[in-house]
Amino acid sequence: MPALFSRYRPEIDSLMKKIVCRRESQLYDMIRYHLGWIDENGAPITGDSGKALRPGLCLLACEAVCGDHAKALPAAVAIELVHNYSLIHDDIQDNDSERRHRPTVWRIWGVPQAINAGTAAKVIASMALGEYRELGFTAEKTVEIVMIIEEATLHIIEGQHLDIGFENMNDISAHQYLEMIRNKTGALISAALKAGATAGCGERRTAEKFGELGMMLGIAFQARDDILGIWGSAKATGKPEASDIRRKKKSLPVVHMLSSASKSDRASLDRIYAMEQIDDCAVRTVMTLLESTGARERTEALVDSSSARCFEIIDNLPIDYSYRTELKTITESLSGRDR
Ligand code: IPE
Ligand code: IPE
Ligand code: MG
Ligand code: MG
Repeated sequence: MPALFSRYRPEIDSLMKKIVCRRESQLYDMIRYHLGWIDENGAPITGDSGKALRPGLCLLACEAVCGDHAKALPAAVAIELVHNYSLIHDDIQDNDSERRHRPTVWRIWGVPQAINAGTAAKVIASMALGEYRELGFTAEKTVEIVMIIEEATLHIIEGQHLDIGFENMNDISAHQYLEMIRNKTGALISAALKAGATAGCGERRTAEKFGELGMMLGIAFQARDDILGIWGSAKATGKPEASDIRRKKKSLPVVHMLSSASKSDRASLDRIYAMEQIDDCAVRTVMTLLESTGARERTEALVDSSSARCFEIIDNLPIDYSYRTELKTITESLSGRDR
């Protein structure tokens, strides 16, 4: 990740800890475990807490419009907590056993308790915005930020609803896929930049432009995630190799492959996706099908076109040249990331 994120990390972590560690009980320990702060027995650790991309973007947008990133700190933390709520629930929904190199919350405490942990993280996220009282924000401004985040949270759920629905559909168009990722991933990255600009008292038009940038960045980010879900290394991603195939996901490479596969290749994939458990041999068959239909290159084309659009939006943002350069560096690094 670009150095920019380490610049804000101590402040993000410190407010996150202040907010989450106010509460005792095993319910919150599950959240602290997910965040990589403690192990499953409650002992402190320094685990992988994720990249903190969304809060970093939120603070950067704020600083770019007003010079003082601290005004966006409660929004940044709320957004990171919403993100983590969505991951705890997503791992249940995707039946994933590993996240950030460790067993997922539901694998340790079971699905019912993991639902509680995720839901609690979501509520704590909303409450984090109460910090705005201390920063002297007006109620009107606070509500504006709350609504940006709540709206995005609802979009995540809409996206998850579409994504899960795709698992039982035979034909998904690239257009339907795009609609799904705009919701499940684009909306929160968009909200991070928009809320940051709004907290920094940027003009509404500027905040909208930041939101547009976040949406495009989110599309590039998720398309890259789909590539990593198939071709990424387990060491870098913290998830098993080819995990999206093992989970029978209809991610973008699979959508592209299905759109151009021959009848027999299609039948072969249908047969594999109907298996109870996808074994290594079946994974290799799917990989060969993906390669023969150029599915990876076509997915990379979406990463590239979305990144190019990001560059255009960045060039038109009314911010200093140095921030434009940083935003371009981030776009490039997210488009080529391996974790
Ligand atoms: C994972 O997001 C979920 C997606 C939207 C693809 P991140 O890759 O930002 O997750 P962490 O927080 O860094 O683990
Ligand atoms: C990412 O979902 C979006 C949300 C968690 C809402 P995925 O299922 O595609 O992401 P990973 O690969 O598990 O992180
Ligand atoms: Mg998942
Ligand atoms: Mg998912």
